[in-house]
Amino acid sequence: MGFWVREQVWWVVVVIIILVQSFNDGEACLEEEREALLKLKEAFNYPNGSSLPSWNNLNHSDCCSWVGIICDNSTKRVVSLLLDYVRAQELERIKWSLNVSYFLPFHQLQELDLSGNSLSGLFGEIRLENLQTLYLDNNQLTEIPFLDDFHSRNSKTLEFSSNYSGDGHPESMSLISLNSLQTLFLSNNSLKGSLLQQGGLCNMKNLTALSLAYNKLEGILPPCLNNLTSLRLLDLQYNGFEGTFPSSLFHSLKSLQFITLNENPFTGIASLSLFANHSNLQDLTISCSNNPNLKLETENPPFFPSFQLKIFSVSNCIMNEASNHRIPSFLFHQHDLRVLQLGYSNLSGSFPCWLLTNNTKLIIFNVTHNFLTGPFSLNPTSKSLDMQYFAASSNPINDEIPPHIGNVFPNLLSLNMSSSSLQGGFPASLGNMRQLNSLDLSNNNLSGYLPQEFGKGSNDLRFLKLSNNSLSGPCLPEGSNFTHLLSVDLSNNKFRGKIPDGIVKSSELRMLELSANQLYGEIPNWIGNFKHLSYLILSQNSMEGLLPEGFCNLAELKYLDLSQNRFNGTLPSCLKMPSLRYLHLQGNHFTGPIPSILSKSPLLLTLDLTNNSFSSQIPWWFKSMLNLRVLLLKGNKFEGSIPMDMCKLKNMTILDLSKNKLSGGIPFCLNNITFRSKDEMGGTVLGRIFVPWTTRTPSFEYNQTSGELIQREDEKNFASYKKQEVNFMSKRRYESYEGNILDFMSGLDLSDNQLTGEIPFQIGYLGNIHTLNLSHNYLTGPIPETFSDLKEIESLDLSYNKLVGHIPSQLTQLYSLSVFSVAHNNLSGMTPVMKNQFGTFDSSCYEGNPFLCGPPLQHKCLSINKSVERQRQPYHSKDGFRDAFLWTFGGAFGVFFLGVISLMYFNSYFTIY
Ligand SMILES: *[C@@H]1O[C@H](CO)[C@@H](O)[C@H](O)[C@H]1NC(C)=O
Ligand SMILES: *[C@@H]1O[C@H](CO)[C@@H](O)[C@H](O)[C@H]1NC(C)=O
Ligand SMILES: *[C@@H]1O[C@H](CO)[C@@H](O)[C@H](O)[C@H]1NC(C)=O
Ligand SMILES: *[C@@H]1O[C@H](CO)[C@@H](O)[C@H](O)[C@H]1NC(C)=O
Ligand SMILES: *[C@@H]1O[C@H](CO)[C@@H](O)[C@H](O)[C@H]1NC(C)=O
Ligand SMILES: *[C@@H]1O[C@H](CO)[C@@H](O)[C@H](O)[C@H]1NC(C)=O
Ligand SMILES: *[C@@H]1O[C@H](CO)[C@@H](O)[C@H](O)[C@H]1NC(C)=O
Repeated sequence: MGFWVREQVWWVVVVIIILVQSFNDGEACLEEEREALLKLKEAFNYPNGSSLPSWNNLNHSDCCSWVGIICDNSTKRVVSLLLDYVRAQELERIKWSLNVSYFLPFHQLQELDLSGNSLSGLFGEIRLENLQTLYLDNNQLTEIPFLDDFHSRNSKTLEFSSNYSGDGHPESMSLISLNSLQTLFLSNNSLKGSLLQQGGLCNMKNLTALSLAYNKLEGILPPCLNNLTSLRLLDLQYNGFEGTFPSSLFHSLKSLQFITLNENPFTGIASLSLFANHSNLQDLTISCSNNPNLKLETENPPFFPSFQLKIFSVSNCIMNEASNHRIPSFLFHQHDLRVLQLGYSNLSGSFPCWLLTNNTKLIIFNVTHNFLTGPFSLNPTSKSLDMQYFAASSNPINDEIPPHIGNVFPNLLSLNMSSSSLQGGFPASLGNMRQLNSLDLSNNNLSGYLPQEFGKGSNDLRFLKLSNNSLSGPCLPEGSNFTHLLSVDLSNNKFRGKIPDGIVKSSELRMLELSANQLYGEIPNWIGNFKHLSYLILSQNSMEGLLPEGFCNLAELKYLDLSQNRFNGTLPSCLKMPSLRYLHLQGNHFTGPIPSILSKSPLLLTLDLTNNSFSSQIPWWFKSMLNLRVLLLKGNKFEGSIPMDMCKLKNMTILDLSKNKLSGGIPFCLNNITFRSKDEMGGTVLGRIFVPWTTRTPSFEYNQTSGELIQREDEKNFASYKKQEVNFMSKRRYESYEGNILDFMSGLDLSDNQLTGEIPFQIGYLGNIHTLNLSHNYLTGPIPETFSDLKEIESLDLSYNKLVGHIPSQLTQLYSLSVFSVAHNNLSGMTPVMKNQFGTFDSSCYEGNPFLCGPPLQHKCLSINKSVERQRQPYHSKDGFRDAFLWTFGGAFGVFFLGVISLMYFNSYFTIY
């Protein structure tokens, strides 16, 4: 019985399946479209991809339900084919082209999205009468695949049509007739050449949105574009369009709402008055870093705008040259701005506070790098709730920060007013900016304590930079509790006290820079909380004591600078710093041998232990540090001989072992070291330094359907309107900075030791060296004649030794030499002829050698050969070089790093992963 029931159920199921199947048959997509789709899938997967798994033949599934396909509800024909970013990324390098005739069956196709598929060409021919929207952006197309006149060229392409062999076909002619097209995105391809040959574009009379951004198009814009009078969006940014600014084009295109012309080498004058009657204009973006010959004019002729802009972005342009670089006066009539970018525009006059009062919906306000002066005031009763990014850095504002700034912009994410001659105190209201993410007030004249409110309010702070001010008191206010800090730079202020424990909860901290303050006390053991700390810079303070065990957690350190403090003891033996590149401990009281843990820091580029009390021998394991470029051990208590293994540090540029107790001879193999300040590629030896700084501003655009401003990920957001969410997470990136001062330095300093023996002649083979100091040792024997091969040498000091014999006369061929001394030796014979650089050296260079004779010494030689005498013409070379080069690497080196760091901090924008 149970058996029978089961059989019944079985039959019912079968009947239902049949019913469903037939129901489906009536409703499912058309077979010809289905087949075409499967062919398309094959093409997208050429040669071996597995994209579009839902497109399959199983159970005759309805293709209208496949991913990326939208059908018309009544006809069941495909209306949208959304194939963006379908092709597998690992196939990116395999060139492929698409046969457009696959689209022939889709009679009702209105929207086709092929973006992001590394498509390198289209071939075949087709007429898509109903296509309104076509996305081909983010591919590798080299030519615009539409020909102007479908019919006249038709016969020509027949030659091609016979040998289409399918996928992976090389690009060939394609004919696509798209006269009803409204939206066309071709941005981010490799389109080349001039648009003049692309008449097809001009035939698309109904086009409302055209983006050709980020290609390599060049030449002038074809006049026939004037016919595209329906255009509302025109994005031409980042191409090579040239010729005079296309004023007549914009004159014709009265419907334009969005114009983006950034970075094209247009010339001439762009007078914005030509937009006066474009009443729909909302977004005008023209940045000019790459078009120095374009001038923007907003004052002459004067105009009254019929538009209300949402975005006005004209950074880096030469603006209003004829009217004192004034702030465009049409802005007086704007009250709906969301984004105002006027950076690097030479603008002068007083700070446009009225813009802030008039435009209460501003999100980004950026007037960085101009000549705007104070007063800088904010209406205390106004509130700009939308303001997120405020940048007014590098202006001679010369005023105080308005005390209520935090109430006026309560939702600010980023505030940058660095290098603006700001005075006075740090306003307590900054603590009311609860979302504040990045604060840069560096390079001003701010003074006083940081207010307690700041420490309590700004819990989201990630980037804090207050360097180069006169701020005092504790580094962070009492009771502050920052939990999200990533990068803190408080260097060069008058902060006193200990390392602030207000940072202790910021376990993601990457950079802590507190140098050049008045900090004292020990480094707290909780420094070990910062497992991701990469940069720790505490130099030039009065800190003391041993390095705590907590240091041993800092396994990601790349840059450690504790120089010019009073730290003592030995480095903790548990230290592990496998990523370390720069270690600067100079000017402390560290003792013990060079810590062998450094042998596990294979990336080390610079090691500066100058002026400590390190002792014992120079360790053998140095030879494994093949990246080492700069090794400064000056002013310690190292003893024993200079190990031959030192010669294995081939890439070294500066080696300073002076002021120690080293004995024995100079290794003859030192010429294995290149002492080359540039590497083989001509790059700088110190490599790149990555420094953490602030988040990057996103760019926004106005969404015409929703009336919302959306963040631009790529320009596609504009037209697709698919991604509606407003996402303020900033893009992340590193920016690198390279120092170049060391590019001019290389040297070997072994002075002030107890070295004995002769100077190896091989030292003369250091053809790249700029400075060589062997003074204050017990060296004997002659000055090697090979020294005349030191072609780059600028400074040579052999004084205070026991050298004997003659000074090689060929030394006069050292044309770069500006500092020279052989004083206090036992040299004899004639001084070199006073010609070339030697004409500039006075007697102090030779003194203390009783048997030397000849000018500039008073001591005349007894038997002077007449002909030699005749050569001794007084010679005065261009001086001024002498002071340019300093002996001590340490000093110059320190300056170099300070210089680089402040430079880096000035410019860099950055976040950390
Ligand atoms: C088709 O039908 C779906 C739901 O059945 C509906 O959401 C959609 O708006 C319809 N599309 C059109 C173009 O009518
Ligand atoms: C352009 O659009 C208009 C109105 O929408 C339409 O009548 C016309 O046929 C279109 N032109 C082309 C070439 O498709
Ligand atoms: C298009 O523009 C060209 C040149 O500007 C002009 O000669 C031509 O008449 C225009 N065609 C149409 C159909 O408007
Ligand atoms: C903007 O501010 C200026 C100065 O206060 C004022 O003259 C102008 O009328 C304001 N414009 C708008 C549109 O509010
Ligand atoms: C301000 O403008 C400059 C120059 O265009 C740009 O580099 C900077 O990122 C902008 N800052 C903000 C906060 O928008
Ligand atoms: C600091 O903030 C964290 C998280 O907001 C909290 O857990 C902790 O108790 C606070 N510490 C102090 C000392 O206020
Ligand atoms: C380190 O210095 C502190 C004072 O700054 C002193 O108390 C301590 O004894 C010193 N330690 C060593 C090992 O020299």
